[in-house]
Amino acid sequence: MSNGPSPSISGLSSRVGETVTLKGWLYNRRDSGKIRFLVLRDGSGYLQCVVVKKEVPEEVWEASGELTQESTLEVTGVVREAPRQEGGVELGVTGLTVLSLCRDWPITPKEHGVDFLMSQRHLWLRSSKQVAILKVRSEVESAIHDFFHSREYTKVDSPILTPNACEGTSNLFETQYTEDEKAYLSQSGQLYLEPACAALGKVYCFGPTFRAEKSKTRRHLREFWMVEPEVAFLEIDGLMDLAEEFVKELTARVLDRRKEDLKRLERDTTVLEATVSKRFPRIDYRDAVEILKGKGFPVEFGDDFGGDEETALTQGFDTPVMVTRYPTAIKSFYMQPDPKDPDVVLGLDMLAPEGYGEIIGGSQRIHDHDLLLSRIRQHELPLEAFQWYLDVRKYGSFPHSGFGMGLERFTAWMSGVPHLRECIPYPRMLYRIYP
Ligand code: 4AD
Ligand code: MG
Repeated sequence: MSNGPSPSISGLSSRVGETVTLKGWLYNRRDSGKIRFLVLRDGSGYLQCVVVKKEVPEEVWEASGELTQESTLEVTGVVREAPRQEGGVELGVTGLTVLSLCRDWPITPKEHGVDFLMSQRHLWLRSSKQVAILKVRSEVESAIHDFFHSREYTKVDSPILTPNACEGTSNLFETQYTEDEKAYLSQSGQLYLEPACAALGKVYCFGPTFRAEKSKTRRHLREFWMVEPEVAFLEIDGLMDLAEEFVKELTARVLDRRKEDLKRLERDTTVLEATVSKRFPRIDYRDAVEILKGKGFPVEFGDDFGGDEETALTQGFDTPVMVTRYPTAIKSFYMQPDPKDPDVVLGLDMLAPEGYGEIIGGSQRIHDHDLLLSRIRQHELPLEAFQWYLDVRKYGSFPHSGFGMGLERFTAWMSGVPHLRECIPYPRMLYRIYP
């Protein structure tokens, strides 16, 4: 017997007729008299293994009868065609060894409350739905890297420990850096990408992001992953094109390569297909206010939109919608005011349809030194901490733009899962840091 990794289930369709030995976990077992159907899972897929009493040695038959859910086993058999099975094959078992018998698996098929499942997250990960979500997430991650690399972006890693806030001070995680200096966990890599795009032109970062969210919502995590491109000489219209192209390409990739997982998640893919092929509507904030008023929302210019408003705005569309030119007063200090209408900024929010809400936030950045200085003062930010950021405007200034997309928000929408907690392996939420 070889000591190398056993072949994976996902690769078996090209090995019909061969005898293979596989290792994995028992996902499910069904007995029907003198024949047993074992479903083996190995992370790459699920395989029906058929044990027929009169065709296997007595000890193999006995062993197959002992198997409990999540027991580890090694199974040998002949790969044969089975059109009705996932992957189109099944295994005719000739040999079987129980490697470790699993007793009292806590996640039985009965309905469990979410709190229980979250406390068992390390085990819950093995369930087929969670596996499918994590595969979609991983596909999105590699599609993100491919998108930027194929367009000659350079990946620039932003620091996690920072001396000041990027996205406001209300949700900062504070930590002690040295005895007399504090540091904050990064809320966004953007401020560090801006100087880097002066060095490299087109850059992106992709890493963990921290926000001490004080309320429990289905759309907020305290630790999440954000991908952020930043591009020199790109202005708002080009930024919107970039965001749309990005979301289209990621969606096409998930549809193409994660079909089985989307099926397992029972994801209706109509909207995802429309997202790939149709142009995304672009709505001015001022028009959005009118649309919402028409739908009975008591909103006025200057109000931020909550989840209900976002859902209402995307109703009737089967692609994401981009809302632009939000009021300057409610957006971040670095956003470029519209020169023709300084009450609004050249920013964008991309709202996913089906109630998933904001998936992308971005803007053109202020590139005029004195304007940025006055915005920093208006926001009462500590000037010393932003000297380096102002330097980008002092030495060879240039218009530039970028956006941030939350990986979990995007994964949730792709997977059709309403709550972000299932879209990251180990969610960090208010009152939940175990396991
Ligand atoms: O809109 P946000 O706050 O934008 C920024 O941080 C900019 N500095 C990005 C940039 O321009 N480079 O966050 C961007 C995205 C949101 O649209 C959302 O997808 C995600 O990050 N996000 C969260 N995801 C999960 N949990 C949270 N608490 C999130 N907060 C933001
Ligand atoms: Mg935002």
